[in-house]
Amino acid sequence: MPSRTQSGSPYIQFAKLRSVAKYNLASSGVMSYPLAELPVRLEGLEINGTDAYGYSPLQERLARLNGVPLECVVAAAGTSMANHLAMAATVEPGDEVLVEHPTYETLVSALEYLGASVRYFERRPEDGFRVDPEEVERKITPRTRLIVITNLHNPSGALVEEETLRALGDIAKHANSLVLIDEVYLEALYEQRPRPSFHLGEQFLVTSSLTKAYGLSGLRCGWVLAAPALAQRMWHINDLYGVNAAHPAELLSVIALDNLDRVAARSRQLLDTNRRTLDAFLASRDDIEYHRPKFGTVIFPKLRRGSVDELYRLLEKHETSVAPGSYFYMPQHFRVGIGGDPEMTCAGLERLGLALDELRQKHQQTAPP
Ligand SMILES: Cc1ncc(COP(=O)(O)O)c(C=O)c1O
Repeated sequence: MPSRTQSGSPYIQFAKLRSVAKYNLASSGVMSYPLAELPVRLEGLEINGTDAYGYSPLQERLARLNGVPLECVVAAAGTSMANHLAMAATVEPGDEVLVEHPTYETLVSALEYLGASVRYFERRPEDGFRVDPEEVERKITPRTRLIVITNLHNPSGALVEEETLRALGDIAKHANSLVLIDEVYLEALYEQRPRPSFHLGEQFLVTSSLTKAYGLSGLRCGWVLAAPALAQRMWHINDLYGVNAAHPAELLSVIALDNLDRVAARSRQLLDTNRRTLDAFLASRDDIEYHRPKFGTVIFPKLRRGSVDELYRLLEKHETSVAPGSYFYMPQHFRVGIGGDPEMTCAGLERLGLALDELRQKHQQTAPP
């Protein structure tokens, strides 16, 4: 099972430094939403705000968006800081945390940074990456403080149904632990988005942001939903990090939230188009195995022959990037993002197809007669 000793996040370093390509299928979010399309007036912006723990207009909108009381919302710098605050507020050094595998690597690196002892339960490709509550129940111990999953699942895009979430809540309750659900990709269900799992009971903590589904990453508009006492603990931990958010970003986030339907409509249309392109691509391949998620921005196929390292080298020639499965500790897989510009995504998938063809040829030549 994965175990890391290095500091920082290998995946984020890859995403920042090595995933950049003309045809970028490595990114897991929807392409940037242009500032010019939001009704922003310069006179409406200001450098400094006055609120101590959360900018009230933003707090109100986040509470409304999620259908929760104000005191249950902790604004954070993206889902990244939201996750960090949620984990730092609940986990002590030496506590055990049970995490899905594969998962978003940064969750594990942050937990290890906080001194947690990380154990895993499997989300198997052959089961459509479903969460198996029975396995979680077998693996939980009296030392387990937190169960952690992503929903939609990163890297596979699989949706975890409410019944499974409730089962996890029951298991956590019996073990006196909590369930942290990173729902940043659940936003990509738009008008079909279920209520945040925070509503399923007091064991649930939820994190999310406007980053992935809306193309608004630069606002760093993230949040945690937590019971009031825990939420307050997170605000106080945040005082050791960013203290306050950048106020212009808070003001822009309020405008974005007031226009979220419009932003969502553009994302939904883009993903519908790209999903059709992806389906045509998948139908043309017999050299990969995959679970085709119904929603979201990513898919996580498995190569039947050859290695993802070889594929990656071939892709570089075609100026195309994907996210290697090694960052998710499943090296035979690779993650393909479909949140980019439709023309770029189409061209990127064509190039991925060419690289897969070349890989197949190479392995046909080297196969024993
Ligand atoms: C599951 C998951 N959570 C959080 C993040 C980071 O989100 P943000 O940009 O809102 O900090 C990512 C980014 O890839 C992610 O995949």
